[in-house]
Amino acid sequence: MAGEKGTLPSLRQYWATQANELLHCSRRWEQVVRGDFTTTPTVEWLVNGELNAAVHCVDRHLTTGRRNKAALIWQGERDHEVRVYTYQMLFSEVCRLANVMKKKGIGRGDCVAIYLPMVPELVVTMLACARIGAPHTVVFSGFSAASLQSRLEDCRARMLITADGGLRAGRSIPLKPTADSALEEFAEVGSCLVVRRTDQKVEMVPGRDSWYHSELSAADISSDCEAESMAAGDPLFFLYTSGATGLPKQVRHGTGGYLLHALSSCRQVFRLEEDDIFWSTADLGWITGHTYSVYGPLGLGGTVLLHEGVPLYPGAARFWQVVEKFRVNKLYTAPAVIRALRRAEGALPPPAALSSLRLVASVGEPVDPGSAGWFAGLAGRPVPVIDTWCQTEAGGILFAPRTPDDPASSGTVGTPLPGIDAAVVDESGHLLPTGGCGRLLIRHPWPGMALQLQEEGEIGGVVTDGGYDTGDLARRDEENRYVILGRQADLINVAGQQLGTAEIEAALLAHPSIIEAAAVGIADTERGQAVYAFVTPRHDVPGTRRLLEELRSHLADKLGPAVLPVGLQCAPSLPKTKSGKIVRRLLRKIASGEDGGFGDLSALADPSVLAVLLAEKRRGETKIHLNL
Ligand code: PRX
Repeated sequence: MAGEKGTLPSLRQYWATQANELLHCSRRWEQVVRGDFTTTPTVEWLVNGELNAAVHCVDRHLTTGRRNKAALIWQGERDHEVRVYTYQMLFSEVCRLANVMKKKGIGRGDCVAIYLPMVPELVVTMLACARIGAPHTVVFSGFSAASLQSRLEDCRARMLITADGGLRAGRSIPLKPTADSALEEFAEVGSCLVVRRTDQKVEMVPGRDSWYHSELSAADISSDCEAESMAAGDPLFFLYTSGATGLPKQVRHGTGGYLLHALSSCRQVFRLEEDDIFWSTADLGWITGHTYSVYGPLGLGGTVLLHEGVPLYPGAARFWQVVEKFRVNKLYTAPAVIRALRRAEGALPPPAALSSLRLVASVGEPVDPGSAGWFAGLAGRPVPVIDTWCQTEAGGILFAPRTPDDPASSGTVGTPLPGIDAAVVDESGHLLPTGGCGRLLIRHPWPGMALQLQEEGEIGGVVTDGGYDTGDLARRDEENRYVILGRQADLINVAGQQLGTAEIEAALLAHPSIIEAAAVGIADTERGQAVYAFVTPRHDVPGTRRLLEELRSHLADKLGPAVLPVGLQCAPSLPKTKSGKIVRRLLRKIASGEDGGFGDLSALADPSVLAVLLAEKRRGETKIHLNL
């Protein structure tokens, strides 16, 4: 069956069973999915079904033994700041906020923008929006006024919920002044609620701004609010992704299909048990935060740990302390976090402190087998460390190991989840044999797919007769496990040999002195393209020519001659998006000798990295050319 087209009736049957088990609809759907990439240009999930996402995440648990269970445990950046919301408390606050929104004239279909740090009010706001049918768009609190403004405009937001400020790595970050600048330019936002977090002095614009907590405690605000019955295809939220390209693009997710995917993938991958503490470290501004800190685990009645700010501030010890303090059982994180923890090995906790960990999962980028294996051995007994594949457009995880015993150290993201029909195809869409490197395609609709992918022609070229092209390169093994090789746009073509970035980078990361690596293709007169690589050494290893020479022989052992980089350059840090992804598009320009024309840099976490890399390249001291 591996790689063969999954039959439509069996996929539909699978999702119908999942929907019956997991969804509580105010009006039952008539057909689990209508349409298919190959037959009709549009797809509709849970046809004629009606439901409400907030009801799934909160109300449903009130009539069960979970009413007084912790839904949210919030750890502030300062250790003594902890807040716990039971499901009952969450219900009351969500309803109060929903009533405040209605009082301000917000209703079905009005977009609400959320520009908050990682505080419980962020989850409350998402759920309050869901309750009244107002799609939300969470804008990561590290974004600038211009980025916020462009998002407000793009989704025509009618309300903004922000805070006076936030705490990040020990610093108090002003948010309200940033929000004010964005609002100055976009007057369609009629009201702005402000959560008090840092007690910074802020300007409040009369008639537009008010304090969140005062509004919620007003005498006319009830702690009950009827939930809107939403059509399954109504939008639940918008997100702006820059994951793949570094350029922001709006992705819309619907209510019914998305929720079905969130619930079923969360259950399948994390196997949440009633008393589990589940910690997904991603910011709520990304798809992982939406699906695996809110809609998935709360929909299943789990207990979610939310951590404010940077989980590794003031150091790695903090991360371990949080795991120990709350006895975290399931952890969902990113390779960058795992690598940073590994880098700071001195701060390791005693194995007993990690004895609660039963599953660690990684997402977002390839996790190098060395780092995954390292994490697996920390608790004094083997802890499964798995890799999972997720994408903003996908709504949730599409690939994960069938059992936790298939570790990330094998280099694969596991198999397509049940109900997902994937394939690896060549340029012309033909199925590749096992082991072939090609485009990663999802051949049949899945419930978490973005609304754009369900509509005709909106994302031209991405959905074709063959299915949805994820934009990734992959390879499939005999056991139908997938290895992700990088993005198609980052493909390097050396004398006709197509190389994904991931394998070259994994080889670089296998060197004990290297903690980050990025490979790009540059023009080469003889072979079309050649590989150029940037490496970040461990903090205690100087980035010298000697190190690069050493890497040269390391690579010669690991890679064939065609794959050997023609240039190696030390990089104190790499250009990354605010969600932590390396932006290879910019590295390609630097490697090719361009020193400008970098385009829109608003998604970058730290644009100053570019100047450093350009200067290093010009100086040429920590750069070598390998003569082949
Ligand atoms: O290239 C894949 C990579 O991240 C992309 C999706 O990025 P974004 O929409 O920002 O969503 C991030 C979700 C955490 C994918 O197209 N990616 C995601 N997971 C993995 C991965 N690459 C390699 N291994 C993974 N496990």
